[in-house]
Amino acid sequence: MEINCTEKELFIFKKIAHAVEHLGMEAYLIGGFVRDKIVGRDTKDADVVCVGDGIRLAKEVAKRFNPVPPVSIFKTYGTAHVKADEFDLEFVGARKESYKYHSRNPEVAPGTLEDDQLRRDFTINALAISLNKNNYGQLLDPFGGLDDIKHKIIKTPLDPVQTFSDDPLRMMRAIRFATQLNFAIEDTTLQAIKDNAYRISIISQERITEELNKILASSTPSIGFDLLYRAGLLHIIFPQMVDLAGAEYKDGVGHKDNFYHTLQVLDNISKETDDLWLRWAAVLHDIAKPVTKQFEEGHGWTFHGHEVVGGKMVPKIFSKLKLPLNDKMRLVKKMVELHLRPISLSQEEITDSAIRRLLFDAGEDFDALMMLCEADITSKNKQKVKRYLENFELVRKRCEAVEEKDRIRNWQPPITGEMIMEIFSIPPSRPVGVLKNSIKEAILDGEIDNNYDAAYDFMIEKAKQMGLFPKSGVRDAKSQIPDSKS
Ligand code: CTP
Repeated sequence: MEINCTEKELFIFKKIAHAVEHLGMEAYLIGGFVRDKIVGRDTKDADVVCVGDGIRLAKEVAKRFNPVPPVSIFKTYGTAHVKADEFDLEFVGARKESYKYHSRNPEVAPGTLEDDQLRRDFTINALAISLNKNNYGQLLDPFGGLDDIKHKIIKTPLDPVQTFSDDPLRMMRAIRFATQLNFAIEDTTLQAIKDNAYRISIISQERITEELNKILASSTPSIGFDLLYRAGLLHIIFPQMVDLAGAEYKDGVGHKDNFYHTLQVLDNISKETDDLWLRWAAVLHDIAKPVTKQFEEGHGWTFHGHEVVGGKMVPKIFSKLKLPLNDKMRLVKKMVELHLRPISLSQEEITDSAIRRLLFDAGEDFDALMMLCEADITSKNKQKVKRYLENFELVRKRCEAVEEKDRIRNWQPPITGEMIMEIFSIPPSRPVGVLKNSIKEAILDGEIDNNYDAAYDFMIEKAKQMGLFPKSGVRDAKSQIPDSKS
């Protein structure tokens, strides 16, 4: 078996081999590095397993580099990390593992290379390459991992029930590798995932979500979500997505299966962008369709307001999945809320005011929103697809023209909340929001000009109706507020 290592990798491995010989140990490259080299994927790290003390070997290896890199030691795990020439090396002693039913933290004892290979998750991850003088470079493949790579198969080295029971996260990993590598999961292995899916509950949410994100970052993420669904894992980790599945019929009228529609939108957007959060937006864009679904006589199935309800579901789902509750979440929420806007604009006479509103609401995420909308076209009818795309092109053109004229995308209304509080001498309260919003609406509607004086006069009128009057002599409140965007 020919494995193509770079000059730098060969240089590093020779140094490890010298250290191994010097200590009279046995050591092997193992796991992801070997798998990825054979598959032809880029790797920037390698695991080295030795029969003996991995920390001792790491220190001996580090000495052979100039300058000597630091050795980071993780005593609890008996592992050590060395960064050599921008390459991450992880050293560990070969071990036997035994697991308890309710934990994925094994009891560990020193073992041989074979023991170590046997405890690994998949045959393709159990391949080792010798770094020992007597058989340097030889591939050690006790479970047929090489054949499985050739035939694109994910399979466990032991009985899969045992492998998944030892560590249920491996069920997610099986699906993640199948997605990343476009491999199939062997039948018995897939059946064992179905039978043990409920065991995923002992895994921390962070680890589950890490695997979900890796699936999402793959080139065809639908493979992973479809497998998670078919294996019954998605029902446990992300039930709202499962609710999208299936097409209901009434009076002979059906609606599309929104689960497979969502997967197609996800694959579509993944062809256009690597941005994880836009991919999440694709996953979640129709998430509220099941809860808003209604059958209206003579009209068929409707999902009124699913974009608004969906937007409200985003923070809850992010929180449950332990995804960050920051700007990324807000971006996804906004995409879900706005995903119907461009299409609704393309179907009617478009007014400047509607275009201004879209530009204002989407702001700097306008292009991302259009990307999601285009990905959302999954019709098989070529004529329809063509028509939708042409309509979007029209919306884009109108948006460009209005933006050129009005500069709405990064625009802020000329009177801020702070100014309103100052002018009327009121504390933060509902009237501040009402006034601020009505100024914004009036400008976007073209009712008043986009400048301070017009906004001020409009606000005073509006405030009067609300029983609010300005402090005397504060027309120039803007000059008192530092950095106000007028
Ligand atoms: N491993 C395992 N069971 C796990 C995690 C890891 O058996 N739950 C083993 C596998 O042999 C794996 C190796 O430990 O190849 C290294 O694990 P990790 O670095 O998590 O994964 P990689 O296989 O290197 O893949 P990636 O870096 O893409 O996660």
